[in-house]
Amino acid sequence: MRRILVAANWKMNGDLESLTALAQGFKQQIDRSKVDVAVFAPFVYLPMLQQQFAGSGIAFGGQNAHTQPKGAFTGEISLSMLKEFGSTHVLVGHSERRTLFAEDDALVAEKTALAIEAGVVPVVCIGETLEERESGVTEQVVAKQIQAVIDRIGASALAKTVIAYEPVWAIGTGKTASADQAQAVHAFIRSMVAKLDADVASALTILYGGSVKAASAAELFGQPDIDGGLVGGASLDLQEFVGICSAV
Ligand code: 13P
Repeated sequence: MRRILVAANWKMNGDLESLTALAQGFKQQIDRSKVDVAVFAPFVYLPMLQQQFAGSGIAFGGQNAHTQPKGAFTGEISLSMLKEFGSTHVLVGHSERRTLFAEDDALVAEKTALAIEAGVVPVVCIGETLEERESGVTEQVVAKQIQAVIDRIGASALAKTVIAYEPVWAIGTGKTASADQAQAVHAFIRSMVAKLDADVASALTILYGGSVKAASAAELFGQPDIDGGLVGGASLDLQEFVGICSAV
């Protein structure tokens, strides 16, 4: 049985006071008996999370990492630096990284491979744009994004990853994919992996992201191939995020 994972992506939001209060709220109010929780924070707040989440079982990590272990890469952060402050997970290839920071499939695959090597769980984000959905190429787009990762790490290493399907048109727009739309893509992803490794496919955690709210979470998480959510805006609101976690 796959456990539901609800992950918060705070993106570049909040400040020390508000994010500390959120972290404390997550720790105190989320019933973790049925749900795993992970928080992706701006780098500078990782030490705060390390302190707040010590012994809580709530996982956390950075929203990106560089491919090189060290060196003259001004403004970048290495996987070992993330680990030093307790990160067990890292987001890879979020659509904002792909579009605003020109990360392509090959770079995303490389970052995925390096995170696995470093013992950090990569949460690999994939998803189509509105234009792609409307032209009927959603499956091709998602398949190409995953195939790049599989070509780099092999299908069996997907066992060490989490996949997050985030349709770009649903991110931050208030337009959630319907449970049926999301389920169809999740099932497609799982069947694609199953052709290569059935055991890995059935154990693979596939999250849905894109305007997830407490009101939509139960229906989404009730789908057979949706194993939780990657939550942006609603993860900055304590009651919404707690509500999403208790929808499990
Ligand atoms: P929203 O929940 O704000 O749509 O963001 C989704 C997302 O990008 C999570 O990574």
